[in-house]
Amino acid sequence: MKALVLIGGFGTRLRPVTYTVPKQLIPLAGKPMLYHVLDLLPPAVEEVVLATGYKSEMIDAFVRAHPVRWPVRTVPEAEPLLTGGGMRNAADGMSDPFFLLNSDVIARVDLDAVTDLFRRRGGVGVMTLAEVDDTRPYGVAALGPDDRIVRFVEKPAPADAPSHWINAGVGVWARSVLDRIPPGRPVSFETEIVPDLLESGIYAFKLTSYWDDAGSPDRILRSQRLLFDDHRAERPGLPPGALGSGPVAAGEGVEARGASFGPYVTLGAGVTVGRGAHVENSIVMDGARIEEGAVVASSLLGPRSVVHSGHRVTAQVIGEGGEA
Ligand code: GDD
Ligand code: MG
Repeated sequence: MKALVLIGGFGTRLRPVTYTVPKQLIPLAGKPMLYHVLDLLPPAVEEVVLATGYKSEMIDAFVRAHPVRWPVRTVPEAEPLLTGGGMRNAADGMSDPFFLLNSDVIARVDLDAVTDLFRRRGGVGVMTLAEVDDTRPYGVAALGPDDRIVRFVEKPAPADAPSHWINAGVGVWARSVLDRIPPGRPVSFETEIVPDLLESGIYAFKLTSYWDDAGSPDRILRSQRLLFDDHRAERPGLPPGALGSGPVAAGEGVEARGASFGPYVTLGAGVTVGRGAHVENSIVMDGARIEEGAVVASSLLGPRSVVHSGHRVTAQVIGEGGEA
């Protein structure tokens, strides 16, 4: 089987960081969001096809410099084609069935079990579903007998949501669904295509472990906490000479002697944290500098940003080269 990964969208909720870095390359628990998504794929996958749009060249260059275990091919879009349009644009040579992954979901999903369900049930797809309280940002499914999806509504008003089970953005689909998407124009898979596919059979795989969409500042930090708690962080610990509890996932060349750390921190390559500074529940990207005595909490600091001595940054997103 092959995997089709959707990597478009402008990451508007994570601006200003996403003005220069695509959302999927923001590191959580020590490695980019995209790589945590790819970790879900079974080893036997033949090829990973990245349907890219915004900052396609950056993503392509990054995956070449940091290869994964599968061959990877990027299929860029000249203009955003939305989810369905991106799928159709990358359809050539796709396997039957194929894995379909959103690139901004952090979850524990057994994709072999999802594939088994697809083969047992027939139909055109298995959609994994997560149970959430607030369904507003998601696609919501109504389930019939045997967990067949009988209705699907994208981002309904709360009163119109048919359940609390939402599209988790991870599934297995028959190749034939790609032929149902009109070519050459933007198409939302969830809004325009899925409702028409229901009569051909879409089944639910209900997730029982954690799930989150990491597309906003509070949720990217919540996703990072989930990854640390599930022991999926890269090299968790404390940088040499640092104090506090951590865990911290620190990249190459981090300098943080005499700084202290609360839990759930990513420090990108070459980050410096001065003496007496404190960082917790945050993502600090490559080359950022947190000066002596500064405090950073629940924040996302872009590459080469600076927090000046004694300053306190809480629940902020600072873009590349920005200062506080
Ligand atoms: N190639 C391509 N082209 N990919 C795109 C485009 C595009 O124009 N627009 C968005 N994507 C990618 C995003 O990068 C993301 O991985 C995925 O498609 C979904 O887009 P989002 O913009 O993140 O959508 P959402 O979070 O509002 O809703 C989607 O995900 C929810 C779960 O997180 C839908 O699939 C919902 O049904 C679902 O519940
Ligand atoms: Mg999303």
